[in-house]
Amino acid sequence: MTRRSCTLYAVGVICGTLLVVGIGLVVSQVCRTFIHNRLKKEIVLVEGSRVFESWKSPPPPVYMEYFFFNVTNVNEFLEKGAKPVVKQIGPYTYREYRTKDNVSMVENGEKVSAYNTKSFVFLREKSVGDPAVDNITTVNIPAWAVMNELKGSFFKASMVGMWMTSLGSGLFTTRTVDELLWGYPDPLLERIASLKAVETVFGLMYKARTALQISSHSFVLDFKNGSNSGEFVYHTGEQNYMDYGHVETWKGQRKLDFWTSNQSNSINGSDGSAFHPLLDKNERIYIFTPDLCRSIHMEFEKDVEVKGIPAYRFTPPRSVLASKEENPANAGFCVTPKECLGTGLLKVSPCRKGAPVVASFPHFYLGEEKYVAAIEGMSPKREHHQTYLDLNPTVVIDDASAARVHKLLLIVTLVSNFPLLIVGLGAIMLAIFMILLYRAHKQKTSNEEDTSYSPVSDKEKEDPQNGTYIGLTAKSEPQE
Ligand SMILES: *[C@@H]1O[C@H](CO)[C@@H](O)[C@H](O)[C@H]1NC(C)=O
Ligand SMILES: *[C@@H]1O[C@H](CO)[C@@H](O)[C@H](O)[C@H]1NC(C)=O
Ligand SMILES: *[C@@H]1O[C@H](CO)[C@@H](O)[C@H](O)[C@H]1NC(C)=O
Ligand SMILES: *[C@@H]1O[C@H](CO)[C@@H](O)[C@H](O)[C@H]1NC(C)=O
Repeated sequence: MTRRSCTLYAVGVICGTLLVVGIGLVVSQVCRTFIHNRLKKEIVLVEGSRVFESWKSPPPPVYMEYFFFNVTNVNEFLEKGAKPVVKQIGPYTYREYRTKDNVSMVENGEKVSAYNTKSFVFLREKSVGDPAVDNITTVNIPAWAVMNELKGSFFKASMVGMWMTSLGSGLFTTRTVDELLWGYPDPLLERIASLKAVETVFGLMYKARTALQISSHSFVLDFKNGSNSGEFVYHTGEQNYMDYGHVETWKGQRKLDFWTSNQSNSINGSDGSAFHPLLDKNERIYIFTPDLCRSIHMEFEKDVEVKGIPAYRFTPPRSVLASKEENPANAGFCVTPKECLGTGLLKVSPCRKGAPVVASFPHFYLGEEKYVAAIEGMSPKREHHQTYLDLNPTVVIDDASAARVHKLLLIVTLVSNFPLLIVGLGAIMLAIFMILLYRAHKQKTSNEEDTSYSPVSDKEKEDPQNGTYIGLTAKSEPQE
């Protein structure tokens, strides 16, 4: 009799546990799907949605820090061919305001068209000096660009060289930080402009025709016209949340035409300001960067915390800027096959009107050792020179306040722990049930010595003399 009831209890316990765990899993799955669907719905660029407003004018401050390499041995370099020696100067920090203008829905709300406008305000307290007076000696890019154009013809090059000398325009120039960044009238370009139509103002950030000065150190750069940031058409995520924020076309083009392979020319991913919800550690995220005139990808590196919010750190791997020998997928980025560059460099001339400009990570980080060795003053270090993005995998859009993100994350955490809660609750209820059962059994056995409980379903099979035993389950189930 006791063995039998033991078996019964065991079966009961196992059944109960399985049931409880099962319910827990189902409920949590349903909840998770529900929350995910809500997030997916939430993160669609539609008029009135929460993300739409912050997408149009992102609230988190973006700081642009500019560092310059001051060449300190120009004469030794030019006269004796010495190795260039540079000293890093910076940061000169600007708060960058990004807004999206002329936002309009296209294709039934599946896409949204916008122009990106950026404005910069100088922050003295986050900078090393005054950009209006700090002098930097650096390569004279307009001069190099002109020489580059003429490199086929020795005669013309020598003539222009003499001409440049008479203008006081050498291979190096000393300019203030303001001039280098936001533009200055270049004497050589001004002279050339009398012969052919060229832009006479040169500046690293001078891209727009309408640079408007608001205060002595603040500029509004309108990237709408004649710049490398034209009209963008983005996916809203309406059709598929995985496409949220992806660039569909740029300046009306689905593909670039700077490079020589389809893969290199493809416009992949977002513009770096929005990513689809529910990021996965195993996925590659793609970012189209007009500054580099190409798309790059990033991979998960590690878990981090940003102001108490858990985030995934994504970083571009070495393969992104690898030479075509190291990564054949990059062959398309070498436009002139005889002059392919090594790992760590990207020649961006095709999208800089042919000017000899090469992009790399700071200090040739992730680049070949020979580049680092060629210039005195380079010291690539991961902690200082790595490019990375810290993204919260669930709530992708950085909300106005971290508190709001916290609240949403709390819900997500609760939902993630829902199975545990259910199972815990189930276990407690099962324990109570067992105690009640045991007490009832004890009472019954003391009352009628020879009676035991048996599940109703077992009644007939186990006991031909149906009725001797009291079916406990039957009592609680009214249909019997
Ligand atoms: C850059 O180097 C030059 C000398 O080559 C020096 O006169 C100048 O002050 C340096 N600039 C800064 C900002 O340190
Ligand atoms: C944006 O809209 C304004 C007014 O609606 C218009 O004047 C302007 O040309 C538009 N800008 C672009 C780049 O289309
Ligand atoms: C930078 O150069 C300009 C012109 O040569 C000079 O007037 C100015 O004083 C220099 N700035 C500093 C901080 O030395
Ligand atoms: C945009 O730039 C082009 C030349 O690059 C010019 O012809 C056109 O008028 C400009 N449009 C506006 C709206 O400024």
